[in-house]
Amino acid sequence: MRRIALTIAILAMVASTAPVRAGDGENNAGVRNCTWCHGTGAQGYMVAPRLAGQRAQYIQGQLRSFAEHSRDNPFSKQYMWGAVAALRPYEVRDLAIYFAGLPPKPANDGDRNLAARGRTIYMDGIPEANIVSCYACHGPNAEGIRDIPRLGGLAYFYLKGRLEQWGQGYHSGIASPMPMVASTLGPNEIEALASYLSFVK
Ligand code: HEC
Ligand code: HEC
Repeated sequence: MRRIALTIAILAMVASTAPVRAGDGENNAGVRNCTWCHGTGAQGYMVAPRLAGQRAQYIQGQLRSFAEHSRDNPFSKQYMWGAVAALRPYEVRDLAIYFAGLPPKPANDGDRNLAARGRTIYMDGIPEANIVSCYACHGPNAEGIRDIPRLGGLAYFYLKGRLEQWGQGYHSGIASPMPMVASTLGPNEIEALASYLSFVK
């Protein structure tokens, strides 16, 4: 894992930033600058999450927060701060629209035995523990809306990390509700939610 991460980091330094023209798709150099980390078809690879099918407004917002260094968890700092540094606003917009238009595949890598419990928390929350339902914002099928991200089918490890890191004080967007939402979740709830979501198509 560490060796691969190092290779990725070195490649990131030598990767050039060619202009993006969304129409060129996977062969476009600007898109390839992203997909050699984010995987073929942007379906996610190792620690880099799936971008395919993510909400365009959300992608754009996150690229801004990497550029402004407000999304400051270790992997963002290590991989994404550099990857976005040279992007122009129109490239950010074109990449966001391009990745949002790719069909997403579910990671299916959570614990099947926890999925039913995760679904219950996702739909109803746990009122007696002050845990809010995720459904209200992320949608009935975890597909997201406007700048609220799609969660369905993201990888277990990635979802778990995100939910843990808000509790550890890392930030993402300004005025994000997630640090407060995540602060009520214990390790069992996080594992159940991340498992359930990894299977959602
Ligand atoms: C060197 C590897 C690498 C490169 C190159 C790279 N990424 Fe990333 N990207 C990552 C990793 C790792 C993460 C996960 C950060 C985290 O754990 O919070 C990430 C996260 C993201 C996110 C946040 C996704 C989410 O669901 O919140 C977006 C959006 C993103 N990258 C877009 C891009 C785009 C667009 C490019 C090309 C300009 C790109 N990335 C290039 C490794 C990379
Ligand atoms: C009040 C609305 C709201 C509620 C309720 C909510 N979320 Fe979110 N969520 C957001 C917004 C807005 C973002 C994007 C901003 C950010 O990343 O900080 C987000 C981002 C996320 C992300 C990051 C996805 C990615 O691609 O990195 C995860 C994971 C997440 N939410 C999980 C949950 C879970 C699990 C619940 C229920 C326990 C939940 N959310 C409840 C609004 C909400």
